[in-house]
Amino acid sequence: MNKQVKSRQRVADHGEVFTAEREVKAMCDLVLPETQRIDSRFLEPACGDGNFLAEVLSRKLAVVRKKYRRSTIDYEMNSLLAVSSLYGVDILADNVAACRERLYKLWAKQYKSVCKSECSDDMHRSIRFILERNIVCGNALTLCCVDENCNDTDEPIVFSEWAFITGANIQRSDYTFAELLSQDEAQLSISGSEGTFLQKYICHYRRLGENG
Ligand SMILES: C[S@@+](CC[C@H](N)C(=O)[O-])C[C@H]1O[C@@H](n2cnc3c(N)ncnc32)[C@H](O)[C@@H]1O
Repeated sequence: MNKQVKSRQRVADHGEVFTAEREVKAMCDLVLPETQRIDSRFLEPACGDGNFLAEVLSRKLAVVRKKYRRSTIDYEMNSLLAVSSLYGVDILADNVAACRERLYKLWAKQYKSVCKSECSDDMHRSIRFILERNIVCGNALTLCCVDENCNDTDEPIVFSEWAFITGANIQRSDYTFAELLSQDEAQLSISGSEGTFLQKYICHYRRLGENG
């Protein structure tokens, strides 16, 4: 079993106590259909090293595998969609790095097992790019990014909505976390249909990092 506490200091400073795997699975089971829908969006505002996000990604990838294992292109696009649907915030930079790496490794391992080869460098870069944008080092209470001392910066937390639009092209729309939360609760989602986006980009799913 993974350790639930790294140090007393971290518990005192940041309330860092990781959830045990059994509880994570039981809680995910409460929303089972959503954890198995490839594009359903999850946001964890105190994600730690990603205990919940990793469990949800595993479940989604199992569905992608079952449905699309016979076509590398379809597998790629749908597994990327699964990764792009997961969002996290943590105030500690090492947790954020660990969470991104954990989700990346989960995705890469399954890709190799399904497609029987490593994926292209472009594809690796796209997945890493999504994780850099979706898993954010910030303060979920003030909705600001934080510096290396966990102090708020002037930079707002920004989340990207990813959506396949035509064929292999993905549209990325950026919204501030504050904007998403200010929407009517009934419409609270990252779908952005009612929100004001900061920026929109469109490009091929294997070249996501090229638009900055
Ligand atoms: C109780 S742990 C839970 C971690 C993970 N969700 C889990 O269940 O295993 C709380 C996490 O929240 C982070 N945290 C504490 N204050 C925060 C804040 N204001 N904004 C974002 N993250 C915060 C801590 O660094 C820690 O990783």
